[in-house]
Amino acid sequence: MGKIVVSGGKKLEGEVTISGAKNAILPVLAACLLSKRPLALERVPNLDDVFTMVRVLESLGVRVNWKAQVLEIDPSGVYTDEVPPSLMQKMRASSLVMGAMLGRFGKVRISSPGGCVIGSRPIDLHLKGFRAMGTAIRERHGFIEAEAKKLHGAEVHLDFPSVGATENIMMAAVMAQGTTIIRNAAREPEIIDLQNFLNKLGAKVKGAGLNIIRIDGMQAIGRDVAYQVIPDRIETGTFMVAAAITGGSLLIKNTIPEHVEAVVAKLREAGVKIEVESDRIFVRGTPMWKAVDIQTLPFPGFPTDMQPQMMSFLSLAQGTSVITENIFENRFRHVGELRKMGANIRTEGRTSIIRGVSQLSGSVVEASDLRAGAALVLAGLAAEGTTVIEGVYHIDRGYEDLVGKLRSLGADIGRV
Ligand code: UD1
Repeated sequence: MGKIVVSGGKKLEGEVTISGAKNAILPVLAACLLSKRPLALERVPNLDDVFTMVRVLESLGVRVNWKAQVLEIDPSGVYTDEVPPSLMQKMRASSLVMGAMLGRFGKVRISSPGGCVIGSRPIDLHLKGFRAMGTAIRERHGFIEAEAKKLHGAEVHLDFPSVGATENIMMAAVMAQGTTIIRNAAREPEIIDLQNFLNKLGAKVKGAGLNIIRIDGMQAIGRDVAYQVIPDRIETGTFMVAAAITGGSLLIKNTIPEHVEAVVAKLREAGVKIEVESDRIFVRGTPMWKAVDIQTLPFPGFPTDMQPQMMSFLSLAQGTSVITENIFENRFRHVGELRKMGANIRTEGRTSIIRGVSQLSGSVVEASDLRAGAALVLAGLAAEGTTVIEGVYHIDRGYEDLVGKLRSLGADIGRV
């Protein structure tokens, strides 16, 4: 696992190609359980979270074969409905198999996902949706057992547009009897990607990207499908900030600019020059940039998954920025680490007030979660001296070869 060591002060220059999206491939992998036919998923990123989801599928009886960036999946031999607790504990997103397992087999048993460092993260909205569709759910001894004698369509109103709940209910609804309507659905691009994948399998899903999704249930789905996952919008945003925080210039290739409009808008407001073409973004940093205020919101608002990285950037802005975190209740664990590097940040509840400083200094810091880890790498790229980032396994969960890509752009960075 090791540590990442960065010597700051190098301007990043060159071109970088964005990998497939972590948050798109995870639900797509879960959705494979709905099919009996072989599937091929292309442009699959090499990420620890993907390896974990593959192990979840294998533990249920799915055969998986990696060929470079293509995953060949044969879901015909599923023989159990229980996800091993060790895999559930490794990754909360393992709970995404619930909807597909209920849809195809009417039964699933997982251990409770519990909390995580960025917040309590319950799955009550997922379960509410399954219950409305005729599923009996028992929560006991740390396990959730769900069983539907006959899964039927339902109208589900989500109290909050949860990404995972929207995806899980969509997957269950694909093979339910009748029509399901999800209101106040999440609108993230990954939901559209899942809809596209399900429809390629033969499902009838409409409305993803809007806040009402309609799924007409089918008796069976499954075709021989090859599918290419969308580019990762959070990786795109992270490289945009990498260019901006080092005052460098980067061409970011294989991206979908509409997916990162909120980040582009904030960076432009701060003074960063950004040009956008169909599948690429050119970012030109500036030696000094302005403070901006940010509120994290569900898509198309500013993504919570870019909040820590922007905080590193705003630590070096001219003036005072205010960041309000509306999605997760405990997502400021990077603040203490940025302070060690000389940032001037005060946190009150869900708000952080960042007074820009002229210089950050290298320090030994610890990544508490995936995006916090990325934020510390970015701060290290700009800081004076050497930064050592511990807890690198968090970064490996969701960034494909971050260190290698940054090094190819001129960063003085390595793993020890
Ligand atoms: C997904 C993303 C994650 C991103 C998040 C918000 C994946 C694999 N992960 O996580 O990277 O940060 O969306 O954009 O796609 N909530 C409840 N009850 C529920 C479900 C959610 O209270 O049943 C709350 C959560 O605690 C959280 C908020 O809703 O405070 C948002 O969660 P949700 O949108 O579900 O995020 P995830 O799907 O877990």
